[in-house]
Amino acid sequence: MLDGKKSLFSGMQATGTLHLGNYLGALKNWVELEDEYETFYCVVDLHSITIRQDPAELRRKARSLLTLYIAAGLNPEKNCIYYQSHVSAHAQLSWILSCFTYMGELNRMTQFKDKAAKHVGNINAGLYTYPVLMAADILLFQSDIVPVGVDQKQHIELTRDIAERFNAIYGDVFTIPEPYIMKTGSKIMSLQEPEKKMSKSDENVNATIFLLDDTDTIIRKFKRAVTDSGNEILYLEDKPGIKNLIEIYSIATGKAIKDIEIEFDGRGYGEFKLAVGEAVASMLKPIQERYNQLGQNKDYIDGIIKTNAEKADYYANKTLRKVQKKVGFPERIR
Ligand code: TYM
Repeated sequence: MLDGKKSLFSGMQATGTLHLGNYLGALKNWVELEDEYETFYCVVDLHSITIRQDPAELRRKARSLLTLYIAAGLNPEKNCIYYQSHVSAHAQLSWILSCFTYMGELNRMTQFKDKAAKHVGNINAGLYTYPVLMAADILLFQSDIVPVGVDQKQHIELTRDIAERFNAIYGDVFTIPEPYIMKTGSKIMSLQEPEKKMSKSDENVNATIFLLDDTDTIIRKFKRAVTDSGNEILYLEDKPGIKNLIEIYSIATGKAIKDIEIEFDGRGYGEFKLAVGEAVASMLKPIQERYNQLGQNKDYIDGIIKTNAEKADYYANKTLRKVQKKVGFPERIR
């Protein structure tokens, strides 16, 4: 709760280009929450440097991501869209919370284990304490909900544990956040290995649909999507390839899963894959057009970056000052 209104925080990493999983699992759902919540959507560039980045590339990707937030439909007048590195309270609260987080808890984080296995030459302390920074992001804004895909659930559970531990010692300082995860789309799978989630860093380019892929590329990738034995369009647990495509098609067209099964009864995988490709391409087209227009409007984007960072900074510091006082830091002399 912020000033009597329910609030929320979510963010995405500025590494790589956004993919269909990021869009369907998170961004697409954010757009519907702006009236009910005070919203904070962050480009989490502090998180990005847990993996080595080229500085010019990181800056370019961060701006591209912020522009994509707006292109996907987030109105920057209603939603606070900003860069994490512009609000120093994130790092400050993260330090304090790290003193309320146990190593045993961090050792259990599956994302750390996965990333450490992928980057054996650079298992840095930031990668390990990443979930604490994430807790700080969420708690700074007294978030009631955190709209994310399934893969972030464990981090939000840890955030809740840290917040409850802190509140138990110091009183009601933090709102305890709930994960906000959609039934469909919260775990979009790879088009090449449907047992694995779709990811930015997949080496096989055909596994991932990027938000800025052109129509031909999207259709080609769906045509090549790995499906299961058989040729019926049925939403079944033991048919992960076709199940994933049905889910994607359902969100892209707004059609119910049962209706899709009826629509494609007896029509085979080839025809269905083409229909999914076309539906996704036409869903993404307006976003891509708006993204290109926004890219030409430097002053408009710069204005958003400035005013929204000020707003985020204001609310973040309100929480931070309260926390600093609670733990016993001396008051500032003005
Ligand atoms: P990131 O950048 O990996 O992913 C951004 C969002 O996309 C969702 N997502 C998916 N959803 C469905 N299917 C998929 N295959 C898929 N892949 C990714 C993620 O669940 C996420 O919602 N640690 C976070 C960023 C972060 C954050 C936060 C999120 C930092 N601080 C505070 C929420 C609150 C991350 O790396 O997301």
